[in-house]
Amino acid sequence: MRATQAVVHIDRFRKNIALVQEKVGACRLLAPVKADAYGHGAAPLARAALDAGCFYLAVATVSEGAELRDAGVDAPVLLLSLPLPEELDAVVSLDITPLVGDAEFAELLARAAKGRRLPVHLKIDVGMSRLGCRPEDAVTLARFVDSRPQLEITGTATHLEVSDSLDTGDVEYTLRQIEKFQNAVESIKRSGINPGVVHAAASGGVLQRPEAYFDMARPGILLYGYAPSPALNNFPVEPVMELKSNVVFIKRIKKGESVSYGRTWTAAKDTVVGTIPVGYGDGLPRLVSNKHSVLIRGKRYPLVGRICMDQCVVDLGRDSDIEKIERWEEVTVFGAKPALSAEDIAVAVGTIPYEITCNVNKRVPRVYQP
Ligand SMILES: Cc1ncc(COP(=O)(O)O)c(C=O)c1O
Repeated sequence: MRATQAVVHIDRFRKNIALVQEKVGACRLLAPVKADAYGHGAAPLARAALDAGCFYLAVATVSEGAELRDAGVDAPVLLLSLPLPEELDAVVSLDITPLVGDAEFAELLARAAKGRRLPVHLKIDVGMSRLGCRPEDAVTLARFVDSRPQLEITGTATHLEVSDSLDTGDVEYTLRQIEKFQNAVESIKRSGINPGVVHAAASGGVLQRPEAYFDMARPGILLYGYAPSPALNNFPVEPVMELKSNVVFIKRIKKGESVSYGRTWTAAKDTVVGTIPVGYGDGLPRLVSNKHSVLIRGKRYPLVGRICMDQCVVDLGRDSDIEKIERWEEVTVFGAKPALSAEDIAVAVGTIPYEITCNVNKRVPRVYQP
């Protein structure tokens, strides 16, 4: 197996689920395993989530749902994004639960369901403006769906776009959104329709808004070991993925010599550099060039020069220091929080840890540690 590997710590994933479950109490958990479980591997993480007590799974595409079914996962799977009409036969045959936010889509689903009864979740939009009906249209939609014998409302959902913010305005906005959603759910109930499992909170809501717990929460990034925003970093989850590699080559360079494409880094003194076979083709963003360190024997060493597609270079320091670092030694690129996390990389390049773990390429083998 190649040097660069994504070690996926299933034990940490289970621990994170237990911490989140403790936080939300009786509220049940849906584990989002979309985008290949945020880069960790959908089927193994889905199985681990269900073993750890999660009630539902969620994917973004029909093919992600098919992957779970092919792997023998028979738990309820919620489809968070809208499929095309030609994908609806597969939605029905795979028994995936779509979100429904408009009558046209509900009608297409009812036709695709033919003789079967397909579970669906109503989606109510309280401000994200992405999917779902307006709260004032929720009862009309619920009645429409309820009147179709091929469809069964098994849940009702919304999504809160600033629940991870500490800003007072955002907190007030989120509370108003929750109230609107709650009112819509109540009016569905008053119309005699069962809204099923009611859910609204993702990781931000789990950490900050117990008002949004309802029957089920959908935390993704927290289960994978990161906070949804740096402001919420004090919840003690641990990164599940550790991106590791090895130093495959070591060489001495002289003061004034440069490293990698573009000559963006020049040695200020004689030093020793090591080559690591991980690059942007593996998911280490090129924008991190000259801005990130790696961990060798628990100590940080800076990446120097441009990150290449398949390799990068680390400054191992002056001769006196590097006597200790040897060729073939193990390197952690990220995943050892708080020493070095995907969030450090995310902050360095102006993104979020979600994108860093999702972007770890398929060519990086996932190694599962129970
Ligand atoms: C509808 C929905 N619910 C839940 C989640 C999980 O979000 P997070 O990873 O921030 O907890 C997402 C993520 O994109 C989402 O789109």
